[in-house]
Amino acid sequence: MYPKELHPVTDQVRESAHLDEAGYQAMYRASIEQPEQFWAEQAERFLTWEHPWHTVSDCDFRQGQAAWFIGGKLNVSVNCIDRHLSSRGEQTAIIWEGDEPTDDARISYRELHEKVCRLANVLKSRGVKKGDRVCLYMPMVPEAAYAMLACARIGAVHSVVFGGFSPDAVRDRILDADCQTVITADYGVRGGKPVPLKANVDKALAKCPNVHSVITVRRTGETIDWDTTRDLWYHEAIEQVSADCAPEPMDSEDPLFILYTSGSTGKPKGVLHTTGGYLLSAAMTHHYVFDYKPGEIYWCTADVGWITGHSYIVYGPLCNGATTLMFEGVPTYPDASRCWQVVDKHQVNIFYTAPTAIRALMAKGNEFVTSCQRSSLRLLGTVGEPINPEAWEWYYHVVGDSRCPVVDTWWQTETGAIMITPLPGATDLKPGSATRPFFGVEPALMDPDGKELQGAASGNLVLKRSWPSQIRTVYGDHQRLVDTYFSAYPGLYFTGDGARRDEDGYYWITGRVDDVLNVSGHRIGTAEVESALVLHDSVAEAAVVGCPHDIKGQAIYAYVMPMHDVEPSDALISELKAFVAEQVGGFAKPEFIQWTPGLPKTRSGKIMRRILRKIAEDELESLGDTSTLADPAVVEELIAHRLNRA
Ligand code: WTA
Repeated sequence: MYPKELHPVTDQVRESAHLDEAGYQAMYRASIEQPEQFWAEQAERFLTWEHPWHTVSDCDFRQGQAAWFIGGKLNVSVNCIDRHLSSRGEQTAIIWEGDEPTDDARISYRELHEKVCRLANVLKSRGVKKGDRVCLYMPMVPEAAYAMLACARIGAVHSVVFGGFSPDAVRDRILDADCQTVITADYGVRGGKPVPLKANVDKALAKCPNVHSVITVRRTGETIDWDTTRDLWYHEAIEQVSADCAPEPMDSEDPLFILYTSGSTGKPKGVLHTTGGYLLSAAMTHHYVFDYKPGEIYWCTADVGWITGHSYIVYGPLCNGATTLMFEGVPTYPDASRCWQVVDKHQVNIFYTAPTAIRALMAKGNEFVTSCQRSSLRLLGTVGEPINPEAWEWYYHVVGDSRCPVVDTWWQTETGAIMITPLPGATDLKPGSATRPFFGVEPALMDPDGKELQGAASGNLVLKRSWPSQIRTVYGDHQRLVDTYFSAYPGLYFTGDGARRDEDGYYWITGRVDDVLNVSGHRIGTAEVESALVLHDSVAEAAVVGCPHDIKGQAIYAYVMPMHDVEPSDALISELKAFVAEQVGGFAKPEFIQWTPGLPKTRSGKIMRRILRKIAEDELESLGDTSTLADPAVVEELIAHRLNRA
């Protein structure tokens, strides 16, 4: 379709950007050669400290230990709000675009200050103190940002649970972090459909005896159940408290939030991020990667329930005094031109989304894009999964009119901020490549024997040194942090991703090398879907793998062995899909469920996932060695009944 060409930085972009190639090189070198001095300068430049730190960093990958700006004190909400009031109090902090195109709002920094202080005081009035965990289960409304910042203001630790999660998933996360307060909404609204958030919370709380307060934002006003001993309306509660709330002075290493994410085994991990280092990385990457300039309108389409929403809707942009757009709806409602209509309506300059959205919109045809102006756009970004070159080129040529650089940003919940990325004024772009490391990031590629690969190579992606927004621990289970990230290659952080480095030193992320799936940019552990399936009475055993999907990137393929007395049927397949949605969330529903009398196992009883993956991918030539299987015949059976045929 389009030539897979190099896209060099244009003169116009270079001249207006914060950094050109020489600037990138100089800063990158400084970040690697004099890290202490480099990070000290950045922390002073990007953040406002109440008390200076005495030590820039103290990290030990062998213990999975990291601390940054030790001894420093600051408050995240002060950095994101108060310090902007004198210079830009009346500037819009948040543009809210509702699900319906007629519904929008603008919140100035001054209003943001008042809202956050009031909600912080409501939390205090319910006894919430520094260090307490607060669960947020919210739609994409400004109150979600108020709630995060209100927690930060009083030193409470928020745990945002994506609004697409089921009541059971909410319950597990509330219990794991022992949250005693929940902030939610009566309903969410997405694509014209209501999402019963409060009802889900009610269900979750049936088994959460420690939760004493549920603060509910009124979004739709539909009827909901109410427990007068526990529930309070947000709009009523904020009227009863003061509009001033003194910020809690926080240690740089005090926890800011927990965010649950899927791993290759077991239940989701509570990734813990702390205050100073996290905020610095979020702000600094927002400034350089998006080349943000004062007055610009910046839109990240993520949900605040994921790390991208944390770092690039709320913390990074607000720390930089930006105007950040928060969109409640979906890119295809009322139709597939919605994003570009919003771009025109609010004159968006910077647009950041996921490859799955780009592919979905690409499939709808160019008309939906070209019917809108998009002349305000200056920079495009992508995140969450590898972007195929075709989608990249479409994004660049059709959406960006061949004018806007595309920054393909690689990072993770655990990294807190963007790690491998182009910088628009510095990096010549190659479609499909996340290109080069950000400041202070030292990637490397490892072979299976633990040897570092040099030059152009493919291997497992690791990071060789700590960065400020590094995951600090897995909440309540530090050993799990060490085992997951710091054991595969002692002394190195293992990302779980595979990558290729080309002759120019550019990185091409190829995807997860562990049992983590990436479905429409949502990270899902195969273990989570498997444990949901085996909870069902009719399932004896289940194995879940990913298979390629044109729009979603990956789809879920489940092999299910029924109980001996169960008759497999299509009705049961639908029931199992609904059951997984109920256990985890709609986004984790298997695309395919294949019945099988058995699973291919080694003689020691280990499921051979490699073979299951190949069958699901319909790649039968490369099945590999099946001779070590306990029962090789089962493979023939699986192949004969496979569902995802080319
Ligand atoms: C994948 C999302 C290729 C990767 C910020 C990573 C990507 C996982 C990219 C983290 C990218 C993220 N190119 N793959 N630009 N960005 N990934 O924790 O597999 O939801 O490990 O964080 O997404 O997903 P998470």
